[in-house]
Amino acid sequence: MESIKLIICKDKNEIDKIASNIISETMKDNKKPVLGLATGKSPIGIYKNLISKFNNGEISFKKTLTFNLDEYLGLKEADHNNSYEFYMSDNLFDKVDIKKKNTYFPTLLGKKENKDWEKFEKILSKKGPIDIQLLGLGTNGHIGFNEPGSSITSRTRVVDLTPSTIKSNSVYFKSKDDVPTQAVSMGLGTILEAKKIILVAFGKEKSDAIKKFFDLNEFDEELPMSSLITHNDTYIVIDEAAASKLNKTKIKKFLLDNK
Ligand code: F6R
Repeated sequence: MESIKLIICKDKNEIDKIASNIISETMKDNKKPVLGLATGKSPIGIYKNLISKFNNGEISFKKTLTFNLDEYLGLKEADHNNSYEFYMSDNLFDKVDIKKKNTYFPTLLGKKENKDWEKFEKILSKKGPIDIQLLGLGTNGHIGFNEPGSSITSRTRVVDLTPSTIKSNSVYFKSKDDVPTQAVSMGLGTILEAKKIILVAFGKEKSDAIKKFFDLNEFDEELPMSSLITHNDTYIVIDEAAASKLNKTKIKKFLLDNK
């Protein structure tokens, strides 16, 4: 836990600002930055800030490589707009100077469709390590699509999504039956190889997972986020709602000890 840096923000805007600053500083520190990226609600404001930083000339993505955490399996053609590839183009890639061939998804390598997830790992080990990995947090404590029960040494693989994750994802689909039940996800072992990790979470629905995390001192398979305890450079950036179930005295001490 000593290496975890916790930042509690007053609101989501502050999370977006702090997280995008940490990412842009990492980009400036590296000639060929390698970013690990996430999708979902949590990173949208962060990507908006990175686009602004690109527009005002602060950062460029020309030499940046990206590896996304996950992608759905079995998405219907008509639901392509719900693919994480579409999300990334829409929320970041089409708005900055990144080369699409330098963007990798577990099911899409550069521009090529891929069904051999091991290849994703091979490319990552050749072009990596990831300089900074951005993570969101599932209400059940998942990171990437590593659901409870995932091994800390897991690698990129096909995963079955839990009913709670399928329910959370269903808001993006017309019918419940169209929501994919499987995805390909980087493993916990893969994620932990990133040099720096930044997990962001906002809202009350994340408060149980955040509380469980700070009640633990070691990895517990039931809370995949707890694998971050073993990492040596992790930021956890959350808002007051996500922090609302934390024991105030304990967290004050934690913040002082980990300054
Ligand atoms: C997405 C991902 C997931 C999400 C998580 C939180 O690439 O890997 O772990 O980060 O489900 O989703 P939101 O941000 O929508 O609450």
